[in-house]
Amino acid sequence: MAMLVIIIFFSFFICPPQLSLLASAHPLDPLSPAELWRVRAIVKESVPSHGKNLTFQYVGLQEPDKPVILSWLSGHTTKSPPRQAFVVARLNRKTHEIIVDLSTNSIVSDQIYRGHGFPILTFEEQDAASDLALAYPPFLDSINERGLKVKEVVCESFTIGWYGEKKSKRVVRVMCYYLDGTVNLYMRPIEGITVTVDLDAMKIVGFRDRMKIPVPDAEGTDYRASEQKPPLAPSLKNIRVIQPDGPSFSLDGNSIRWANWKFHLGFDMRAGPIISLASIYDVDKDEDRRVLYRGYVSELFVPYMDLTEEWYYRTFFDAGEFGFGLCAVPLEPTKDCPENAVFMDGYFAAQNGSPGKIPNVFCIFERYAGDVLWRHTEEMVPGQVIREVRPEVSLVVRMVSTVGNYDYIVDWEFRQSGTIKATVGLTGLLEIRGSSYTHSSQIQEEVYGTLLAPNTIGSYHDHFLIYHLDLDVDGDANSFIKSTLQTTRVRGAGSPRKSYWTVQSETAKTESDAKVRLGSKPAELLVVNPNKKTKMGNPVGYRLIPGLSATSILSDDDYAQIRGAFSKYHVWVTPWNKSEKWASGLYVDQSRGDDTLAAWTRRDKGIENRDIVLWYTLGFHHVPYQEDFPIMPTITGSFELRPTNFFERNPVLKAMPSVAVNSSNCRVVPH
Ligand SMILES: *[C@@H]1O[C@H](CO)[C@@H](O)[C@H](O)[C@H]1NC(C)=O
Ligand SMILES: *[C@@H]1O[C@H](CO)[C@@H](O)[C@H](O)[C@H]1NC(C)=O
Repeated sequence: MAMLVIIIFFSFFICPPQLSLLASAHPLDPLSPAELWRVRAIVKESVPSHGKNLTFQYVGLQEPDKPVILSWLSGHTTKSPPRQAFVVARLNRKTHEIIVDLSTNSIVSDQIYRGHGFPILTFEEQDAASDLALAYPPFLDSINERGLKVKEVVCESFTIGWYGEKKSKRVVRVMCYYLDGTVNLYMRPIEGITVTVDLDAMKIVGFRDRMKIPVPDAEGTDYRASEQKPPLAPSLKNIRVIQPDGPSFSLDGNSIRWANWKFHLGFDMRAGPIISLASIYDVDKDEDRRVLYRGYVSELFVPYMDLTEEWYYRTFFDAGEFGFGLCAVPLEPTKDCPENAVFMDGYFAAQNGSPGKIPNVFCIFERYAGDVLWRHTEEMVPGQVIREVRPEVSLVVRMVSTVGNYDYIVDWEFRQSGTIKATVGLTGLLEIRGSSYTHSSQIQEEVYGTLLAPNTIGSYHDHFLIYHLDLDVDGDANSFIKSTLQTTRVRGAGSPRKSYWTVQSETAKTESDAKVRLGSKPAELLVVNPNKKTKMGNPVGYRLIPGLSATSILSDDDYAQIRGAFSKYHVWVTPWNKSEKWASGLYVDQSRGDDTLAAWTRRDKGIENRDIVLWYTLGFHHVPYQEDFPIMPTITGSFELRPTNFFERNPVLKAMPSVAVNSSNCRVVPH
């Protein structure tokens, strides 16, 4: 969930520009503040004056078609593709999809969306809904009856999902917490009260105070350094990252070059970071070779497992309901990112269309953690000891999205070896259910979680991120190959061995062939270009190296699961389609699962030797433990995309060893 209370400190709003906008450098650059102002003016002008209820729910770049970008990139067209914006607006209780052309200052199309589901919620309406509760007499009575101080109550709006209702209104539930002696409001839920707000009418349409449960104590919940009492943990000495000659990467607007990589980095208020046009320089071929046309987090599904009245609907979609980019927070130099990082700002449209800025939304830095890229010691050569070691230095792009209680640290890491590694770190605060229990021995019923502290239950839940990975391995025509490792029994007397394993490869023909749930059998998952072969005759490819990752174990007919159906498989492959961007649909709030990756793939389209998109689910089942209280140490998940017969040989053979820098490090004195 998103919470304005915090975000407002970070995002400041910008004044209209004095001059008209500068030309944009790259057709995939996100909309600049000047462009956002123009979009706002053009849309507002098109709306009759009675349309004063116009709200901007999403504004982003209307991405030029892929062939247009590729042709521009190859230099066949020198003219930049037209700059366009895609706007989702609410006007008089209707959702409008508007495409604005910024080169002609006109509206290209304005369509009313009539399907299921509603757009991303704005911070402003979530905040207004919470304010309604805090001014609602029956709610205030409930607070007083609990002996709580109204000025210590903070509230947050929660999306409510869909449970088979015939009609849906844009409704949220407001849930409240208690400060009074802590900043860790999530550890102090005020249970039992449900306030329902109709966002379009901006009115309370439901109120219920079902039960009184003690609010957990503030004691021990604060996580600020200033509030910690001795004894403190053993402290560490200062640590620094020094690049005496400066960084090895360069930024040209949103285009980044580092070592053998180049790519474009954009910010989107829904997806957060978007990596585009990543290509790698092949030293043997003396050419840049395409790898990833586009990569981003398409959705993030977080269903809770608690069936009580105040909890069952908590099945959040953090990108489609709250905006994964919109919830990004400014990164703090030397804390969120090392001291050698550089930062980039991000811009979004506020509810009234004016641009807001998230300063330092991304950091970009070279990482050296003392790891080894490759090495060997050879003592068999007579008279010599050969030792060759190359350090692993990589380039990291980072964003942190704080979606209410949870903090997601999203890293895209580029390695000289050709690997792209995507990592997500989960930290922040659990969502806690208040309870009357103070010891686990008292619990005789299903409480859907773990008792972490007195009156404090950490609820069971999942996190499923799905990455949209439009790999273009050496060109757009690609195929997906699933290779399974098969145990083979040895029969006959040919070998003293009884078994071995071998590789059986299968090219997926259609979308249904490519749905993979990992686990039982070892598998290699490759995206290859069947039209390009190495000198050895192997198709050039990239392979997905999954990390530990969960898929959903909810029933297929559970309403939340229908909406988040992508979470059933680790891997999906679809033919590239401009409108298939969001794995749980374009309109996720109260969606019904009819515009999802699972629904699209039911058509079972062909995926062989064509432009395909690989989707990967990075999932976590989260059973809370006491160490997650009062704030969770980061837990990470990741996957890699690694070149696979892409190069003729080790692409970092010719990476030179690093030059020793005069060490300023003091030695550890043994005692
Ligand atoms: C416009 O918004 C106000 C409150 O914000 C509401 O009372 C009114 O019904 C809305 N009008 C329409 C046509 O939606
Ligand atoms: C692209 O995807 C949309 C949504 O799934 C679908 O309606 C459309 O038919 C697809 N286009 C093609 C060419 O398959």
